[in-house]
Amino acid sequence: MTKKASSNRSRTPHGKKFLAFISANWEEKAPSTAKRWEVADYAAKRREELVKLFPGKLILLEAGGMKVRANDTEYRFRPDTAFTYFTGWGSETVPDSVLVIDGRKKKTKTQLFLRPTAGRESTEFFANPMIGEFWTGPRPTLEDIEVQLGIETHDIKKLDKKLKDWPKPLTLKNEKFAVAVSEMRFVKDAYEIDQMRKAIEITTRGFADVAKAMPRAIRSAQGERVLETTFFARAREEGYDLGYETIAASGAHACILHWNKNTGAVNKNDLVLLDAGCELDSLYTADITRTIPASGKFSPEQKWIYEAVLEAADAAFAVVKPGIKFRDIHNAAIAVIAKKVSELGLIPVSAEEALKEDNQHHRRYMVHGTSHHLGLDVHDCAQARREHYQDGILKPGMVFTIEPGLYFHADDLTVPKQYRGIGVRIEDNVLVTETGCENLSGALPRKVAAVESWFAANQLGVAG
Ligand code: GLY
Ligand code: MN
Ligand code: MN
Repeated sequence: MTKKASSNRSRTPHGKKFLAFISANWEEKAPSTAKRWEVADYAAKRREELVKLFPGKLILLEAGGMKVRANDTEYRFRPDTAFTYFTGWGSETVPDSVLVIDGRKKKTKTQLFLRPTAGRESTEFFANPMIGEFWTGPRPTLEDIEVQLGIETHDIKKLDKKLKDWPKPLTLKNEKFAVAVSEMRFVKDAYEIDQMRKAIEITTRGFADVAKAMPRAIRSAQGERVLETTFFARAREEGYDLGYETIAASGAHACILHWNKNTGAVNKNDLVLLDAGCELDSLYTADITRTIPASGKFSPEQKWIYEAVLEAADAAFAVVKPGIKFRDIHNAAIAVIAKKVSELGLIPVSAEEALKEDNQHHRRYMVHGTSHHLGLDVHDCAQARREHYQDGILKPGMVFTIEPGLYFHADDLTVPKQYRGIGVRIEDNVLVTETGCENLSGALPRKVAAVESWFAANQLGVAG
């Protein structure tokens, strides 16, 4: 993990006199003010559930290490999702930490192994650019983490010996275990729902920032980047990061589903598709899309497509309640999509014919699914089995997206000319309640008139 500095760079002095000088005359560290975090009780409950699923086992979950971007520079650290789920430790996680849950005895023993803070007398402190606190800032003490997370902590150096003494632990390399850990996250607890509401609130403000930045984007040669970075500023200012790379797609770029190069210009007659989500320090993320006219007003063609997608989204919302199958949501949305492309005369068969399993002509215009689970990962619960995911039954506390779209490529000869080069997606984040659902991202306007007036208010600086 730690690398040797290359020999052509300036060297940190390492003589005895220097060591004595740099180690002395530092203020005493302030006494700890660490308090137990709200997440601690939730994470403890999750660990209990895990032990019930895998009784008598020794379980090991790694936070993972820093990833190299180039040579000796690294990406921003993001711990493994399962590690965060079972510790409650998010963006501040010390890289390479390891959680051990030992369920072999009647009373489960949980231990967290991490790299402790190095004393000022150590050479690591000032001479190690990768982990030295002179270079990277202070690490928490083992004592503080123990208080905050409510988990017994140990120096990571002790782990190797323990691993020699222990039987082979259960890890995410074990498929059955990885699947179970993913499926445990389907139903969110109260802490998770609260975090997701916060991520969505920040994302909502980020979308308003983007609306405000539209005139500047139109003036820029790379207007999509203006929108992307405007959103990023909000995500970093109020959250930890993006939950995924922002898609800022103007005009025909909106038809490219994962357009995140964002190198294009924004023309004032374009629709702009913004798919973006802020990830919090707890690592929960939003995943929202709005398709906004750069001019603030939809053209008749843009409006027709937009309202077709909105009708599909509303049809999906209408079926969501506990007890239905996850895939019923997609079926509700796609039936509207089939009807709409049939109305436009794009497909050679009726909507009813197209919807048959072997046909699916309408999928040319919406090739992706309508929904995915959302949480710590943007595509949450990704290792879950199909029978528990697509064919799973909705339960209160589940959070997922509803995100139908229509994408008419600029060179698609099946599409009338005036509709070509237009892509629309409307993506909301949805919580299943006892009786139906709540649109967690409903504060962002969805209807044509509401989008237009929200946009106009943002130009005047009267909307937040
Ligand atoms: N932004 C990725 C997705 O919508 O699934
Ligand atoms: Mn999504
Ligand atoms: Mn999205």
